[in-house]
Amino acid sequence: MRNLNNKTAIVTGAGSGIGRAIAIRLATEGAKVIANDLNPDAVEQTIAQIKKMGLVAMPSIGDVTIPEDVEATFSLCEKNWGSCDILVNNAGIVQQKAFVELSVDDWDRMISVHLRGCFLGCQRAIKSMLVKKSGVIVNMASQLGQIGAAELVHYSAAKAGIIGLTKALAREVSQHGIRVNTVAPGPIDTELTMKLSETWRKMKTAQLPLGQFGTAEDVAATVSFLVSDDAKIYVGQTLGPNSGDVML
Ligand SMILES: NC(=O)c1ccc[n+]([C@@H]2O[C@H](COP(=O)([O-])OP(=O)(O)OC[C@H]3O[C@@H](n4cnc5c(N)ncnc54)[C@H](O)[C@@H]3O)[C@@H](O)[C@H]2O)c1
Repeated sequence: MRNLNNKTAIVTGAGSGIGRAIAIRLATEGAKVIANDLNPDAVEQTIAQIKKMGLVAMPSIGDVTIPEDVEATFSLCEKNWGSCDILVNNAGIVQQKAFVELSVDDWDRMISVHLRGCFLGCQRAIKSMLVKKSGVIVNMASQLGQIGAAELVHYSAAKAGIIGLTKALAREVSQHGIRVNTVAPGPIDTELTMKLSETWRKMKTAQLPLGQFGTAEDVAATVSFLVSDDAKIYVGQTLGPNSGDVML
């Protein structure tokens, strides 16, 4: 476990899967955590788990695509604990559909949750991180942003966008003491992968050198490293907890 005492962290999409595991991990390491999610019941479960361990967290119900909701999440942090030291843009959705069947609404929602969400979160965080000349951001991409996947064109495009956004932003802000990196997980056992077809999950498991999906806790461990001082020379990188599926 690393030491995040006196740090504040905002984790989006923290009501389920990877986001919940990240929120729990960062709280366990001493951070005061704002757990954001669209789903109030889900995020309350995350908060309950953290508080049961005697650790500190608050919920922020809101949509990462809505600027007012993003503002409310950061204001909650600032009013209670001070400015945000660590931001994890993790909220995400998936939809498996043939490319020719994608509607414009399908496309816009996918790009919005991932890319607009990342843009809004990063911009709000960086405004205050620039003032104090420190801060760490981790954006959740996916290995599908690196290699693509059939019937997941809009998802793959959104995740590739996150990798590009992260690299460009890292070049812009690293000289001001702010580190921005991406995590690009392979298949992880969560509710999100349960939404993909059984055929896909079987095919993917067979392709993995490790022969099994990762866990949300595996991804949280990668995030824990990236937000810590152990990763102080990691800038604009894409780390891949992916069971060996993609080797770069
Ligand atoms: N599970 C995987 O195999 C996998 C692999 C690579 C990348 N990822 C990425 O990791 C992240 C987390 O995925 P997961 O598997 O934990 O999924 P999940 O479905 O278990 O959790 C995603 C959470 O995000 C929340 N959310 C969705 N849209 C939101 C919005 N607009 N505003 C706020 N919250 C919102 C959901 O309510 C949910 O609680 C996603 O960005 C996903 O694309 C997952």
